[in-house]
Amino acid sequence: MVLARRLLNLKESGTLKAMAKAKELQSMGVNVIQLDVGEPDFPTPENIVRAAKTALDSGYTHYTPSPGIPELREAIALKLREENRLNVSRDNIVVTPGSKQAIFYAVMALVDEGDEVIIPTPAWPSYMEIVTVAGGRAREVPSTTDFSVNTEGIKEAINERTKLIIINSPNNPTGYVMSEKEVSELADIVADHDVFVLSDEIYEKLVYERQHISIGSLPGMDEKTITINGFSKAYAMTGWRLGYVAAPKPIASAINKLQQHSASCPSSFAQKAALEALKPETPVRPMVEEFRRRRDFICGALEKLHFFRFSKPLGAFYVFPDISATNMKSGKFCDLLLEKAGVSTTPGEDFGGYDSHIRISYANSMENLMEAVSRIERVLESLP
Ligand SMILES: Cc1ncc(COP(=O)(O)O)c(C=O)c1O
Repeated sequence: MVLARRLLNLKESGTLKAMAKAKELQSMGVNVIQLDVGEPDFPTPENIVRAAKTALDSGYTHYTPSPGIPELREAIALKLREENRLNVSRDNIVVTPGSKQAIFYAVMALVDEGDEVIIPTPAWPSYMEIVTVAGGRAREVPSTTDFSVNTEGIKEAINERTKLIIINSPNNPTGYVMSEKEVSELADIVADHDVFVLSDEIYEKLVYERQHISIGSLPGMDEKTITINGFSKAYAMTGWRLGYVAAPKPIASAINKLQQHSASCPSSFAQKAALEALKPETPVRPMVEEFRRRRDFICGALEKLHFFRFSKPLGAFYVFPDISATNMKSGKFCDLLLEKAGVSTTPGEDFGGYDSHIRISYANSMENLMEAVSRIERVLESLP
């Protein structure tokens, strides 16, 4: 075998695969509405783009310090202290090329061969695969029916091999936002055991109902929490590839070493743009309000179809309906929607084996969402 053993069980990214299928059809001239992509359709706000242009024009195009430029790490630490109540300084922060890379580094830094990582599901597929690459074992703990986190199940799954629990609130793919009670119950469990929690807060700003709470802000949790965030979702900056990790200093330092020997540093001018993004003048609110409008539309429209069962998402930009009424598995139903309706969605099986669900991203224009819903309705009407 040519490949290293650690790659033998690695699965392709289901979300990127769905996106690639849609793009291929589009390149053949097929009109495909993409409800598969996990990225805001808005342009990056102007003030951010301007900051990057200024950086480029002034020749800011070389390597930067490996953990990121000091002023950006400082600004991130300040944001985390003020908005998230985390007890962090610049030395706890490493800026990375995307938050996915930050998660990769954090898992590589903590998980040894044979260690277990608890992942409440439904969950973003990359968590499971990154744990596999690190030689660990992903222990999936299915959530309860409304997608709230199954804290009892997590407690039962912890054993002497457990190293890490990965949480993601607001959640991809369900849009669930953990309540204060759930966050505090989970913090109690972590406090009672020799485990860390990795809290992926990339959708933190996209909340419509509840308040987002960072688990790292709870008493005693600063030494046991690795907080992940980034610029992709809140600032419509997916292509800029910029994320960050806030971790206890020894972990942040190990992550920095991993970065030194892989990416070297994040992109220089993108870091200048990120510094601008964090300023209060960046228009995040209008984007969040537009997502809320789309969420209300898509949930209302799906309800009217009387076909899908779903919990109304409280955050992010996804809805994760149960498609059991189609009598089809998620992959097959997604293929049908793509082929017959030109609507691209993502199979639920990729999010921890949720074969009777699909993920619909409503990060698309209202016009496209309306057209997609009527196309989906036509496909449902044609089912036997
Ligand atoms: C839950 C979650 N975490 C992390 C990421 C990675 O984001 P990025 O690497 O663009 O910062 C994504 C992207 O889809 C995501 O959905």
